Amino acid sequence: MQRTLGVCYYPEHWPEDIWPEDARRMQETGLAWVRIGEFAWSRLEPVPGRLEFDWLDRAIKVLGSAGLKVVLGTPTATPPRWMIDRHPDMLAVDAAGRPRKFGSRRHYCFSHRGYLDECRRIVTLLAERYGRNPHVAAWQTDNEYGCHDTILSYSDAARGAFRDWLAQKYQSPDALNRAWGNVFWSMDYGSFDEIDLPNMTVTEPNPAHVMAFRRFASDQVVAFNRAQVEIIRRYSRAPVAHNYMGRITGFDHYKVGADLDIASWDSYPLGFLSDRLEADAAHKAAFLRQGDPDFQAFHHDLYRTVGRGRWWVMEQQPGPVNWAPWNPAPLPGMVRLWTWEAFAHGAEAVCYFRWRQAPFGQEQMHAGLLRPDSVPAPGLAEAAEVARELAAASDVATSKGDVALIFDYESAWAWDTQPQGADFDYFRLVFAWYRALRHLGLNIDILPPDASDLSDWKLVLAPGLFTLSPRLRQALETCPGTVMFGPRANSRTTDFAIPPCLPPDLPGIDARVLRVESLPPEASVELEGTGRFLHWAEDLETGAPVILRRRDGLPGMAGDDRITYLAGWPDDSTLRELLRGLCAAQGIETLHLPAALRKRDAAGLRFWFNHGAEPLDWNGQTIPAAGVIWQSAD
Ligand code: GAL
Repeated sequence: MQRTLGVCYYPEHWPEDIWPEDARRMQETGLAWVRIGEFAWSRLEPVPGRLEFDWLDRAIKVLGSAGLKVVLGTPTATPPRWMIDRHPDMLAVDAAGRPRKFGSRRHYCFSHRGYLDECRRIVTLLAERYGRNPHVAAWQTDNEYGCHDTILSYSDAARGAFRDWLAQKYQSPDALNRAWGNVFWSMDYGSFDEIDLPNMTVTEPNPAHVMAFRRFASDQVVAFNRAQVEIIRRYSRAPVAHNYMGRITGFDHYKVGADLDIASWDSYPLGFLSDRLEADAAHKAAFLRQGDPDFQAFHHDLYRTVGRGRWWVMEQQPGPVNWAPWNPAPLPGMVRLWTWEAFAHGAEAVCYFRWRQAPFGQEQMHAGLLRPDSVPAPGLAEAAEVARELAAASDVATSKGDVALIFDYESAWAWDTQPQGADFDYFRLVFAWYRALRHLGLNIDILPPDASDLSDWKLVLAPGLFTLSPRLRQALETCPGTVMFGPRANSRTTDFAIPPCLPPDLPGIDARVLRVESLPPEASVELEGTGRFLHWAEDLETGAPVILRRRDGLPGMAGDDRITYLAGWPDDSTLRELLRGLCAAQGIETLHLPAALRKRDAAGLRFWFNHGAEPLDWNGQTIPAAGVIWQSAD
């Protein structure tokens, strides 16, 4: 497959007479795609019912005639001001009961029927008009579901829809009371209409109530997205994508992805390092201008699965962003490195955000490929370099991972609802395992929690998976090697109760967690040898062979070459060595990479990425600072 580059462009931000020159320069840079339209509602329909699509017709024509393929976004992330007058109750409501205001974006509530109808209307108009336009080669629904904390809305519309959702799921209030354990604190309900949303309670609400609300909220996103996809498909054969974000876990991306042709995501490595990563000051300083060496790769691997093999980077950071606490500039070379890293993980396309820096509005401090005065910004030359390299390169195909790691959105909601320790976070836990595997030089496949076939991997890992689905339980049989579960695995039923036989209740291993403790940062549980459990430790009773012991004599990890259970959260180097041992037992070759160096095999090609600020000597070759090299993998 031909890997391609693209850019995000806002024709409505610029005088029309510079569109042709912009299009020509995009083409000259080697860009194939241009994404437009996703925030343009107020210019497509300035007053209700007055449609002004002519400018978009012309923009698509100008871009398309220059040889660019258009990704057309639906503008539903930015309902215009008049929409609020039409539907005053469409605004999302925060957990404190305050409506979110107009004046930025994503202010709508997913459950509002009136707004959903407005979205159906505008998407129908767009799809009718551009569904057969030869230049519109892909679609994007909305923009970044969940960004700015926008999945949960405590509105009247959400409350009504939640009650309906509960009635369908539980059928009777008695069944719901039993499932949630509502005898506790006299919380029994006599009818579904008595059930409120789980906010503004005096102290914590019932975790089963919260979990149901989280599932409901995720289903609302799925339905909202599906409504748009169904309309687009009626008029267009072009693939439909959505652009997800980094470390957003508020909705089930696998379920949204099942309705789409392509998963895409928005990759802002320096913003993420500053804003979304638990790491010590030394790590943040070392990677300040490069971004974390594993954070982007994790999402590449995740979205490859969400997209069932088809995925893009829809927005790639090209220079400093505006939204993180600190916004440094990337080291020369990093824009190229980030782009190649995406391709090495199987991206079909990488689009830069954005073409020209905007001199107005909220993102005036956000770099583009061009400066506001249209002079090239440093990112442009790197994009052009990748375009030349792509033209010269052989294809980069995706290869199967050495190991598989399960990532589950419901587990993120479960442990967010009941962290038990202030620093217990599901993403953080899974990401620590991912990082350890990358350190060992492995290719990783991320799997959903309902994977039904594990026969491709000799090592499958499932830290923190809150409940084991019957499907996965059965799939364990298909794994030819070891499945290792980690702390809190299968420790709740789907309705958020402790299972009667005590967790982890895994097939093929005699093990019970008798007690758990969460640990503040200054505390740890020492392991035999040098390691420690941090954050979380479990008292495990087991008849299985003990692989690792705590200094107090309790088992820390137990199991055999089929199923293993790790009863705590090890420090990074201990985790790495445990995983190395499991790999060795399965004949999976591992490396010991320096902190800044990462490897990725892509069918026939081996890539080496140096995320460091200094050149690195590795196996007789020098990898430049902020650089990437590749070679034949044979
Ligand atoms: C993304 C968003 C873009 C833009 C960008 C800035 O999250 O989709 O519209 O705001 O961030 O980095």
